[in-house]
Parts: sequence; C-alpha cells; structure tokens
Amino acid sequence: MAQRDVAVIVGSLRSRSYTRRCALALMSLTPPDLKLTFVEIGALPLYNQDLDPDSPAPAWAAFRDQIRPCDAVLFVTPEYNRSVPGVLKNAIDVGSRPYGKSVWSKKPCAIVSVSPGVLGGFGANHHLRQSLVFLDMPVLQQPEAYIGQANTLFGEAGEVNNEATKTFLTGFMAAFADLIERVKA
Ligand SMILES: Cc1cc2nc3c(=O)[nH]c(=O)nc-3n(C[C@H](O)[C@H](O)[C@H](O)COP(=O)(O)O)c2cc1C
Repeated sequence: MAQRDVAVIVGSLRSRSYTRRCALALMSLTPPDLKLTFVEIGALPLYNQDLDPDSPAPAWAAFRDQIRPCDAVLFVTPEYNRSVPGVLKNAIDVGSRPYGKSVWSKKPCAIVSVSPGVLGGFGANHHLRQSLVFLDMPVLQQPEAYIGQANTLFGEAGEVNNEATKTFLTGFMAAFADLIERVKA
C-alpha cells in the first residue's frame, strides 16, 4: 500500500498549546501507511482578495504549494468563542482561493477538536465541518473526536497519559487511514 502524505494543521499558535500536544500524540499513534507533517499557519497574512490572483502574498503561495501535493488533511483545533479560531479560518480561506483553484478540493480530511473544557470543542468542530463540506472535502464521519479536559491528557511532547485516550486516538487514526484509502481507490 502506498504511503499517504497527510498535512497536519493546528489551529492554535500558543507555545504550550494542548491542541499541538494532541496533534503530536496523533502523529505518534498513526498507522505506518500515513506520513503526517505539520503545515504551519501562523505567518499567513490575513486574506485579502484584492491581491489574488495577480500578486498573492508569498506566504499564501508557499502555503498553497505545501497543501496541494498532500493526499489528505488532519485539522486539530481548539475552540474560540464556540467556533474556529480566526487563524485557522484564515488558512482555510487562503487555501480556497483564487476561485476554482482551491487546494482543498476532494482531499479527505478529519477533525479533532481540543479543549480544557468538558465539551471538547464541539462548536469549533461543527463550524469547521460546515466549511469543509462547502470546500468539497470528504470528512471522516465516525468516530467524532471531541477531546475534552485536554489539559490533563498530554505531556509536552504529546505523550498520552491514559490508555483509554490512547486507544481512542489510535482507532481514530486507523479510521482516517481507511477513509483516505476509500477516497483514493
Ligand atoms: C479567544 C478565546 C476564546 C475561547 N473560547 C472558548 C470556547 O468557546 N470554548 C472552549 O472550550 N474554550 C475556549 N477558550 C479556551 C481555550 O480552550 C483554551 O485557551 C485552550 O487552551 C486553547 O487551546 P490551546 O491550548 O491549544 O492553545 C477560548 C480561549 C480564547 C483565547
């Protein structure tokens, strides 16, 4: 089976982010047929349609060039005000333009929302899902991943400190690998 390249996009820029720790955990628990690579979004200027398509910000072009060749995308995001952090929405908007040249189209994807609260970022998860449907990305339906009380679960390098979470995240990545194969078949 061919190894699949998966872009990992983290919706937090915070240096001690629980979301990034969760992403590191997912990277360590992924099946060997997936190669996961972080694609950073913190330096992307705010999207401004005046600049596309003639003079896009260089960071937008670089970001699009990183996402385009990937087979799939894993979004790992915190929740801000019951929605997606602006930095992540900006990255999604940047990748979606110029019109007709979206780098997201048809790429299988999965969402993991992360919060120190008990709801696990449900609002962010579903707002993100709404955009991804519009962008024509097949989204992993099950299992859903709402990682609550994330401040208690992960070490700094993404170590998972309990077996139930480890088992859940391992199963999640196996289901994602399965979706990618079905879409790519
Ligand atoms: C602007 C802002 C809005 C927030 N809104 C929510 C929210 O709606 N739901 C929630 O569970 N946590 C919310 N939080 C708390 C975040 O879950 C918390 O700061 C978390 O640590 C952010 O993720 P990170 O650790 O990956 O940076 C908010 C935090 C900020 C800064």
